[in-house]
Amino acid sequence: MKVLIVGGGGREHALAWKLSQSKKITKLFIAPGNPGTAMHGENINIAAEEIEELKAFALAEKIDFTVVGPELPLTLGIVDVFAAAGLLVFGPSKAGAELEGSKAFSKELMYRHNIPTAFYKKFEDASEAKAYIETHKPPMVVKADGLAAGKGVVICQTRQEALEAVDLIMTEKAFGSAGKKIIIEEFLIGEEASFLAITDGKTVLPLAPAQDHKAIFDNDKGPNTGGMGAYSPAPVLTGELQKEVMETVMYPAVRGMEKEGRPYKGILYAGLMMTDAGPKVLEFNCRFGDPETQPILMRLASDLLEALLASARGNLHEVTLEWKKEAAVCVVMAAKGYPGDYLKGSEIKGLNEAALLPDTVVFHAGTKSRDGKVVTSGGRVLGVTALGADIRKAIENAYRAVDKISWEGAQYRTDIGKKALK
Ligand code: AMP
Ligand code: GLY
Repeated sequence: MKVLIVGGGGREHALAWKLSQSKKITKLFIAPGNPGTAMHGENINIAAEEIEELKAFALAEKIDFTVVGPELPLTLGIVDVFAAAGLLVFGPSKAGAELEGSKAFSKELMYRHNIPTAFYKKFEDASEAKAYIETHKPPMVVKADGLAAGKGVVICQTRQEALEAVDLIMTEKAFGSAGKKIIIEEFLIGEEASFLAITDGKTVLPLAPAQDHKAIFDNDKGPNTGGMGAYSPAPVLTGELQKEVMETVMYPAVRGMEKEGRPYKGILYAGLMMTDAGPKVLEFNCRFGDPETQPILMRLASDLLEALLASARGNLHEVTLEWKKEAAVCVVMAAKGYPGDYLKGSEIKGLNEAALLPDTVVFHAGTKSRDGKVVTSGGRVLGVTALGADIRKAIENAYRAVDKISWEGAQYRTDIGKKALK
């Protein structure tokens, strides 16, 4: 079977690493990929948003199955375009991906189907939003409706901050058309967890829970990033709570989408806050998490291809997933300056030494090849991921690999996984 992965970050390297172990795959392409994915397949120089070019490539190469990594092509409708051309593809339709593409839609869906989430109001007018802020007690959370690469969410401790957030998003249009609508939300307190499931629209198959580390610095200090590390399993999501989340969040969301004429296939990712009143949804994403995918897939013992194919074909009820008992930890190494403007083009040293360590995979995210060397080319550069008998061991193994790798200005958190040890 010929398979195409769309995307070129750490998540897509993890997908390529895992899918390349499937015996059914005869040829693997990644568009655009990165130097990490090139170890498992052939990179094709087409960007993830160039949907017509990707379709033309898939038709010309007779690709049997396409796996879409990032949210942008999904919200642009890549699944609809591929399906209309007779191509089998993993991921939700454009109407399904709106669950991530519009926070207002996602909140309304949660309300309609009684899915636990923070109280919110939607606004399309800045002065109405400001009037609301004047009569409500902070803290509150102001969110741009559309995709903003994780930056469209502002946690406001004071009314003044909330008013400024409205100006930033609606008046100054800091996130472009993503800020035409905003939502203002109740501030929730608790520990966060990422709960991902594969679905074919009927069956919902949970993946091992994971926890992300959103802030740039140790002890969750500093601005939010796309994720500075992740671990799995996440002890905060006990077996009981996983069952509760399946019943109160995952099944109602999938059934709700179906009832509303938007049958949902692919990954359903719930970002959860574990509050005193139970798990509540912070957001839905319509694709694998990055960097959660790296530790999750290292723990998956089953063939990933079978599960993704079953989601696309609608026979997921025939699939079971087996998980390794070991824990996995991913430490993201980022470029100097990230999540602000960052340095590019630094030579990365020590990749080969790190790759020799047992139970360790160095997933590439923002890297490229130059004159036979690997250099940095993105904010999040590598996801150094290791298995261990338990979280403590996995942390040790991941940081042992991190210690072998260096470039000028490399930064990483030193406390990934610590929360799981409490
Ligand atoms: P989102 O993109 O909606 O998941 O928001 C990004 C991050 O902002 C989340 O991972 C949380 O850390 C934080 N956040 C979002 N909404 C809330 C909320 N209602 N209460 C507290 N923190 C929140
Ligand atoms: N790690 C957070 C995300 O993938 O959205």
